[in-house]
Amino acid sequence: MQEALLSISISADYSGKPGVLRDLRLEMAPGEILGLVGESGSGKSTLALSILRLLDLKGGKTSGSVRLNGRELMELSEAEMRAIRGRDIGLVLQSPMSSLNPALKIGTQMHEAWRAHRPGSRKECTPRFLDLLRSLNLDVDEKFLKRKPAQLSVGQAQRVLIAIAVLHKPPLLLADECTSALDLITQKEVLNIFRQLSQEMGTGILFISHDLLAVSSLCHRIAILRHGELVEVGPTHEILSRPVHPYTRELVSALPVLNALTIDSSI
Ligand SMILES: Nc1ncnc2c1ncn2[C@@H]1O[C@H](COP(=O)(O)OP(=O)(O)OP(=O)(O)O)[C@@H](O)[C@H]1O
Ligand SMILES: [Mg+2]
Repeated sequence: MQEALLSISISADYSGKPGVLRDLRLEMAPGEILGLVGESGSGKSTLALSILRLLDLKGGKTSGSVRLNGRELMELSEAEMRAIRGRDIGLVLQSPMSSLNPALKIGTQMHEAWRAHRPGSRKECTPRFLDLLRSLNLDVDEKFLKRKPAQLSVGQAQRVLIAIAVLHKPPLLLADECTSALDLITQKEVLNIFRQLSQEMGTGILFISHDLLAVSSLCHRIAILRHGELVEVGPTHEILSRPVHPYTRELVSALPVLNALTIDSSI
């Protein structure tokens, strides 16, 4: 059997709020797009931060095991984790404008992300940055790299953030509600970019969202999180056509398009 890209078995608490994730077990295959769906407060972002071992920044604590390509991350030193973040695990967050540094040019931010893990002058890196941005459907030239975030549209900024997150071709990308702030057309384009990353670069993507419709159109499998516990995990078509848990049934029945399909097919 192919070795798992990611294998998790964790619990997480915040001070004053225990049991935010309870014995959560999950596996992802290389190149797989796994959707993590759950209502606000169910623990989705806590899971992403736990994988990156960053929960202590929010006053939380993760216990258990997080294995990336067979390597136990929970046993690594902080210096070893810093080498993993950004190089082996990329992160894209919801709000591109607050994730980018408003004071720095796009080219500078890309170069800083590059230099965090590999050597290379700004001049040497420029063609690579432009190629990557173009592969993400941005029609750019060198002048684009001199712009600051405020001079970009939200959709452009989100693509720049994705470019930064995949600069080092990480095998795992965590995308936390990163299409929620986008209009529908831009959202569709970003979902296409994720499909492309999974197919062409073999990137495994944990796509976190409360939007079951977006998740259904993108993901190979779906995991449903409720109050810190996974209540159901399965291939997308099975979750949609045969949801077992009452909460999953409720989520699926709230999908307008599927409702229409169900009505059509019953005629
Ligand atoms: N720093 C913190 N201290 C205490 N409790 C926290 C902290 N951060 C989050 N929580 C609580 O932990 C639970 C899970 O939060 P989390 O941010 O993981 O949810 P989420 O599923 O990502 O929600 P959303 O969809 O709104 O982003 C929530 O009940 C939240 O109130
Ligand atoms: Mg969240």
